[in-house]
Amino acid sequence: MGWLARGMRVFSHEDDHFRLIPLDPGAPIEIPPPFADYEVVMHDGLSETRVDSDWLNHLSLLITSEEIEGHGDSWPSSHEFISDMMIVRIEEELQKYSSHIAEAKLRSHPHIRLVLNDEGVQGELRIRKLTPIGARFEGEIVTRGIPESVSSTRVLVRESGRSITCDPNKAYFSTKLQSERLETLSLAKELKAILSRPLRVCDPFCGVGPALATLLSEPELVGELHASDLNPDAVEMLLENLSRWDGRYYDKKPSKLSRIFPDRIVGIADATRLRDDSQNIGSWDFLIVNLPHKTIDLLPSIVPLLDRSSPSMVRGRVIASDSEIEEANLALRENLPPTLIGKPVPELRVKRDYSSTLRLCSFEAWIAPE
Ligand SMILES: C[S@@+](CC[C@H](N)C(=O)[O-])C[C@H]1O[C@@H](n2cnc3c(N)ncnc32)[C@H](O)[C@@H]1O
Repeated sequence: MGWLARGMRVFSHEDDHFRLIPLDPGAPIEIPPPFADYEVVMHDGLSETRVDSDWLNHLSLLITSEEIEGHGDSWPSSHEFISDMMIVRIEEELQKYSSHIAEAKLRSHPHIRLVLNDEGVQGELRIRKLTPIGARFEGEIVTRGIPESVSSTRVLVRESGRSITCDPNKAYFSTKLQSERLETLSLAKELKAILSRPLRVCDPFCGVGPALATLLSEPELVGELHASDLNPDAVEMLLENLSRWDGRYYDKKPSKLSRIFPDRIVGIADATRLRDDSQNIGSWDFLIVNLPHKTIDLLPSIVPLLDRSSPSMVRGRVIASDSEIEEANLALRENLPPTLIGKPVPELRVKRDYSSTLRLCSFEAWIAPE
């Protein structure tokens, strides 16, 4: 059946009660009987011990040690896994070694199908430019003339018990935001407890919808939902995802924002123009603003979407330099309505480095009713 992840091994769970069987990305999301009683959990995999997982050891078999030492720390030691793809960022000076890097990475990670070079996020739609530099084809490693059959970047990613269709070459998606999404879930649950009813959630920069995957996995948390993005490719994958998460049929073709079901407004839309339609104004309890390089400036055009007759929340991410964080905090508070009594004023929390000078931050703002 091919459900076992190639090159990965079975090992004991920390609780010692279960053994973890590594699943291939192609295994069914809902594991059918007789295994259906066993939970599918997210866990870092372990390679089969006979494979040396240190990619530099493999690289040293492909180029000279002088070449390796000559470039010191510039070699791409970290990488991101998206399903069976590995994304690496190769410095300019090492581009000529791309195929060697790909081959060494593929040898050290036998479950990886495709290695892509990340040339950075581009344009308003925040899409990464990813170039295939190596792949596994019929058991062999290929770094030139990679066949189309193994170079597809559209994959299913498992997260929080859900599967998310994404294609990082066509729409923004990052596996690194998983903990951020869990924090968003816990904030939404807190707001739901205050309002004592399911939330009306609006995610106007939703991409393929990963934040919604987590929120929709919690029964009775989300009532009405608005999910939109400017990128038609993102919306196309969002529709496929929603069909799965919601258990209802969404049209496969992306179209402009519309009410698809009585409780679902989905489609392509410019978030900055949503307030032009009076139906969107004052309709939402929980607003997600995830366009970090613009969030603070966009708030005045998005905040009118909040229902100010009861407590509400804005959850967002912002990119700022260390020296600008205090200034950004002031701008954030200025662009948001007053804080709900008893809750802290919104404040940026640094989550990780975005570059050598910029930090990726997140915030939550509890908004008082008018
Ligand atoms: C940083 S990504 C976040 C995507 C998604 N929320 C996630 O966490 O994966 C920002 C998204 O905003 C979308 N976008 C950019 N400008 C927009 C606009 N004016 N209106 C709606 N969406 C926009 C991009 O297409 C992209 O999908």
